[in-house]
Amino acid sequence: MPGTYAWLVSDSSTRGPIPDLASLHALGAAQQPTYPDSAAVDAAVARLRSFPPLVFAGECDELTDKLAAVSRGEAFLLQGGDCAETFDGVTADNIRNKLRVLLQMAVVLTYAASVPVVKLGRFAGQYAKPRSSDLETRDGVTLPAYRGDAVNGFEFTEASRIPDPQRLVEVYHSSASTLNLVRAFTTGGYADLRQVHAWNTDFVMGSAVGSRYEAVANEIDRALTFMQAIGADPDEFHRVEMHSSHEALVLEYEHALTRIDSRTELPYDVSGHFVWIGERTRQLDGAHVELLSRIQNPIGVKLGPTSSADDAIALAARLNPENTPGRLTFITRMGAGKVRDLLPPLVAKVEAAGVQVAWVSDPMHGNTYEASSGYKTRRFDDVIAEVQGFFDVHRALGTWPGGIHVELTGDDVTECVGGGEELLESDLADRYESVCDPRLNRVQSLELAFLVAEMLRKA
Ligand code: PEP
Ligand code: CO
Repeated sequence: MPGTYAWLVSDSSTRGPIPDLASLHALGAAQQPTYPDSAAVDAAVARLRSFPPLVFAGECDELTDKLAAVSRGEAFLLQGGDCAETFDGVTADNIRNKLRVLLQMAVVLTYAASVPVVKLGRFAGQYAKPRSSDLETRDGVTLPAYRGDAVNGFEFTEASRIPDPQRLVEVYHSSASTLNLVRAFTTGGYADLRQVHAWNTDFVMGSAVGSRYEAVANEIDRALTFMQAIGADPDEFHRVEMHSSHEALVLEYEHALTRIDSRTELPYDVSGHFVWIGERTRQLDGAHVELLSRIQNPIGVKLGPTSSADDAIALAARLNPENTPGRLTFITRMGAGKVRDLLPPLVAKVEAAGVQVAWVSDPMHGNTYEASSGYKTRRFDDVIAEVQGFFDVHRALGTWPGGIHVELTGDDVTECVGGGEELLESDLADRYESVCDPRLNRVQSLELAFLVAEMLRKA
């Protein structure tokens, strides 16, 4: 048996009741909006409490089981989507394109590495953003920072930047529409493996990565034809299981959507299947850790360069006292230049303590910089270098590099530099659409999938 289980609690009922919203706030909650009208907040929360769940507790449990396989080294997690969803972005095209690139990446990873891939969208709830500064100044004018469509408007005017709790109700409806379409696409034929070629049309056919994908798709087609010829046609060929995730940031929203499951009589945050705690809100005694410690969903915690192994072990003890595999995922985001130094002592000590965790790499948030033109960007090569470092560290320690967490879009945006199309900083202005962090575009995402598939094959 590895390590000590000194912090292990055997009685799962010790998870205890959910504190009320005021008690949660009293613990101290970082990165919350300052609403000017508390009656409007109460009204929005009351509306949210009356709405049906967006996801079902049983689906959350299924995802926990899949993530348990990730933590055992038997599966790989692909988690991806926008940095910040927007209400305007809730369109059929946008959702389909995002889904399509995730499906293509999953096919590449599954086929090239022969490992089951757990698919988790960063969507249907990813509307609130932590910010490094409360204020933003442009041309001498200072206003509250944009905190995501869940909180205020992106437009740089005083009126738009005032936090409006009614936006939380809109988050709910936008998430419901997104999930509805995702469920339709993933079970209604679009995600059928026979569509592998269709997912590739109208884009990469002419590009190097597109041709490479076509070759994989041809092989899959042949395999499917063979399977059908021998009479095998399992359900898995025709549908895909895709779960939803977002950062649990605004307490009003997450608290109002935390419900007692009628089957188990245990609390679940039914705003998404998987919720995570960000790098800026992982204070051990803070409100976010408290709330997420009470729910049954599978959860994640971002760990940046300042995280010590002791912090991580203490978080695991608070968030997963029963040490249940699949319950907890650590999403490390150290930066390409630091991952090889900072990750080994962290992983080694956490593993030695016997903590059951899935290790996932976020190669985005440690690699953001401002281009001379003022655009926030990331180098594709840095993204790859961090993932490679992550794989190498886990390989050296004998632990499992369990997945990647990426900011991407299905569209041909110009937000990250490099990749096969060799996007330059001077290209960023062409199609920069993110309201927050720069995302990999469709070509860059697929290139990443091929590179990670190679790393996985060797892992
Ligand atoms: C994010 O995932 O968009 C984010 C803000 O990440 P982090 O908490 O790791 O900075
Ligand atoms: Co981001």
